[in-house]
Amino acid sequence: MICRCFCCISKEEQSEISVSNNIRDYPWEMYSLNELLHATKNFHQDNKIGEGGFGSVYWGQTSKGVEVAVKRLKTLSAKTEMEFAVEVEILGRVRHKNLLSLRGFYAGGDERLIVYDYMPNHSLVTHLHGHLAEYCLLDWPRRMSIAIGSAEGLAYLHHESSPHIIHRDIKASNVLLDAEFEAKVADFGFAKLIPDGVTHLTTRVKGTLGYLAPEYAMWGKVSGSCDVYSFGILLLEIISAKKPLEKLPGGVKRDIVQWVTPYVQKGALNHIADPKMKGKFDREQLKSAVMIALRCTDSCPENRPGMIQVVELLKGVVGRSKKEVYYEDDMADEDDNIEEKNKIDINIYEDFGVEPSDYVGTTWVKPKIK
Ligand SMILES: Nc1ncnc2c1ncn2[C@@H]1O[C@H](COP(=O)(O)OP(=O)(O)OP(=O)(O)O)[C@@H](O)[C@H]1O
Ligand SMILES: [Mg+2]
Repeated sequence: MICRCFCCISKEEQSEISVSNNIRDYPWEMYSLNELLHATKNFHQDNKIGEGGFGSVYWGQTSKGVEVAVKRLKTLSAKTEMEFAVEVEILGRVRHKNLLSLRGFYAGGDERLIVYDYMPNHSLVTHLHGHLAEYCLLDWPRRMSIAIGSAEGLAYLHHESSPHIIHRDIKASNVLLDAEFEAKVADFGFAKLIPDGVTHLTTRVKGTLGYLAPEYAMWGKVSGSCDVYSFGILLLEIISAKKPLEKLPGGVKRDIVQWVTPYVQKGALNHIADPKMKGKFDREQLKSAVMIALRCTDSCPENRPGMIQVVELLKGVVGRSKKEVYYEDDMADEDDNIEEKNKIDINIYEDFGVEPSDYVGTTWVKPKIK
């Protein structure tokens, strides 16, 4: 386990690390405040990309001409200082094509700044629910490749990094997209390091409503399968562009699993797809992806697949069926043939290890999320 964070190390150690940081262990830079002020035009409002619970994010360009995103901590408290330390500590030690890279940081006085690679295609939220959603830059193959990329990033954290890392805040705004729409999982401020041989820890609940696994939300039991649950919610969100939690008229909240379930029961899976795709997707791939998402969101953590298995399942889906597109007109007769469709869907349940009785009829037990 780690005893100290990078921002607590002495000036002498910092300069040693700065010398060696391009070699291997610390592939990040220690920026000066001046450089980051200059890069972001003194954190000018025009440079602001977005704002989260932690602080604001600004676009900037370093003296070397590199585009960066600088996250500026809002207020300095013991809690935010800890999140800053965890983020820098964890990001400093992981490197994977599907994890957002740390470029460096600054910690001095009351200022805490984290410097990342700038992601020109912003986060998944912008494309699913935000100002870029109407342009529908996410076609079906892109959605699947983003899902696979995010799953690979998570599988690396869970299984390859040492100690293993649980992210604890997997959600659409924490999946950023590079110029080629490759997914980069971001925001490790809530992450937990899991020592070897430990299967789960009990902690204070952190994360985002709508994405929290029931056992974690209720009892603070955190393990890799909490991330798997959040990933399942994210996958449904990628497929449907529905938000994980919706407020219905009258103030009742409905989660995305509750929304999806009746369509799965009826075999009307095409209604789950984001209408902005205008029916252009492979129907078999869609079904399979939904079934994987439902396995990930099983209320019982033991029944959820591991992230390596999720990657394999998703890659299998994309590899198995290469039918080009499925058009909207063909969807018209879908509801007329529900019985026939249910038969087909039961095979799909079996393929993906889901009990049909959980979904067909009224016996589906919804995870208790609240
Ligand atoms: N490296 C980056 N490149 C481009 N845009 C980024 C980058 N990092 C963050 N952003 C943008 O800044 C916004 C704010 O990010 P931030 O992580 O602070 O908050 P959040 O993820 O929306 O919420 P939370 O604080 O709950 O994690 C994000 O929605 C994202 O679009
Ligand atoms: Mg974030």
